[in-house]
Amino acid sequence: MSVKKICCIGAGYVGGPTCSVIAYKCPELQVTVVDVNPQRIAQWNSDELPIFEPSLDEVVKSCRGRNLFFSTDVDQAILEAELIFISVNTPTKNYGLGKGRAADLKFVESCARRIAEIAKSSKIVVEKSTVPVKAAESITNILKANVKPGIKYQVLSNPEFLAEGTAIGDLLNPDRVLIGGEQTSEGQEAVSALGWVYQHWVPREKIITMNTWSSELSKLAANAFLAQRISSINAMSAICEVTGADVSEVAHAIGTDSRIGNKFLKASIGFGGSCFQKDVLNLVYLCECLNLPEVAAYWQKVVDINDYQRRRFSNQIIQRLFNTVTSKTIAILGFAFKKDTGDTRESSAIYICQHLLEEGAHINIYDPKVKKEQILKDLSSRPEIFDSPDRLNELVTICPDAYTAAADSHALVICTEWDEFANLDYKKIYSHMLKPAFVFDGRLILDHNSLLDLGFHVEVIGKRLTRDISRVVRTPAAGST
Ligand code: NAI
Repeated sequence: MSVKKICCIGAGYVGGPTCSVIAYKCPELQVTVVDVNPQRIAQWNSDELPIFEPSLDEVVKSCRGRNLFFSTDVDQAILEAELIFISVNTPTKNYGLGKGRAADLKFVESCARRIAEIAKSSKIVVEKSTVPVKAAESITNILKANVKPGIKYQVLSNPEFLAEGTAIGDLLNPDRVLIGGEQTSEGQEAVSALGWVYQHWVPREKIITMNTWSSELSKLAANAFLAQRISSINAMSAICEVTGADVSEVAHAIGTDSRIGNKFLKASIGFGGSCFQKDVLNLVYLCECLNLPEVAAYWQKVVDINDYQRRRFSNQIIQRLFNTVTSKTIAILGFAFKKDTGDTRESSAIYICQHLLEEGAHINIYDPKVKKEQILKDLSSRPEIFDSPDRLNELVTICPDAYTAAADSHALVICTEWDEFANLDYKKIYSHMLKPAFVFDGRLILDHNSLLDLGFHVEVIGKRLTRDISRVVRTPAAGST
């Protein structure tokens, strides 16, 4: 089947950037990204895109209205396209069977049903969303059960590996593109058709093809391995803080082993983002359903350590501030789950702030890209913390910059590794803070010795700072058990 028109259902963090790059690299193809959310589509058609990603603006502006379109007319785009990406959200189920672990596939299923209802010609349907193994089978069953005469469907798995904050670079120069399809001649023809789209800019050897189930599982496996590395180094950071080892030195030492590699070994306040936790839990649930409880327990620990790290960090803040933060002011720098994105989904900052708010702290928050409404919405996700509706607004102030956030505060907490936080005038910040002034570097981005020289008390994940004489040495006594 030759592809001339592409439809992408879901104009989110994946559908928007992915299809913008396809349109940019394939000027002869018409790419239409559709969504049921009219506000989101209006933003894609405006000067202020709904998501922040470096270079996304330029890519969108270069092809929007030429061969890239954003629309709410889902049916028309389905009718016209030969190839349809399903890039809708697959959140963790928050109800019923598998609650809290399984992926909720209701949006994927509704796309399949819509395609089956609307299509008047054969389609290649591409599962771009992250799904459990065998989801393609469910899509195929829905399509085939509703098929009209003369129409054929092929369902492919083409998981997306982009990382937010570097999405455009990742899409333009991917480590690999993965395509899974049926091992039949029709299946392989569809794999070739999708491969042809990517070959406009991706070298052929980077396009990996395999069976559908391997492809689906590879996405869950990749995210589980990445999350596991973060939890592993974070587990090490807890040992470092007690023993006097330095987690950055340990990471450097193990990262120079070529079998381990040096990426994704930075200790922090834990992973966030819409994917890691959701996908690991999805894998845990899959293992339980497959009667593999030991495997499920193994992967569950990756999420447990992440929760532990967040809680450990906020406990450390409370302990160091003389065991109480009630009515103290804490400046939080960074609210996005990582730098260079405005996305706050599952951001560790949410959990840390909520923990501090539970203890009655006032918090001043500054993030260069996250909007005030989003921060307040995220923090109000646990209404039981606040004894009255006004309490959130009483306790939380959203600030226009880091200096305003830090003024008159007891402590400064780095929650996101935005570059600008490493280059602030800490002398000025120190002079406007209450004393003793504390800095908690949850991302290991600051120059700790300079901060100590300025007079700050500095607390760092995975490292005990020796010049801080007020600290109690917690190394276990020799011979103790
Ligand atoms: P998102 O929530 O940003 O976007 C999903 C969009 O789909 C929303 O705008 C929603 O309105 C729309 N939608 C839902 N049902 C629809 C329907 N029936 N018809 C039309 N539109 C519909 O989600 P995001 O982050 O783009 O993720 C999409 C998928 O990609 C998920 O499965 C996710 O796990 C996966 N993924 C996400 C990555 C990320 O960094 N965000 C990276 C790799 C994969």
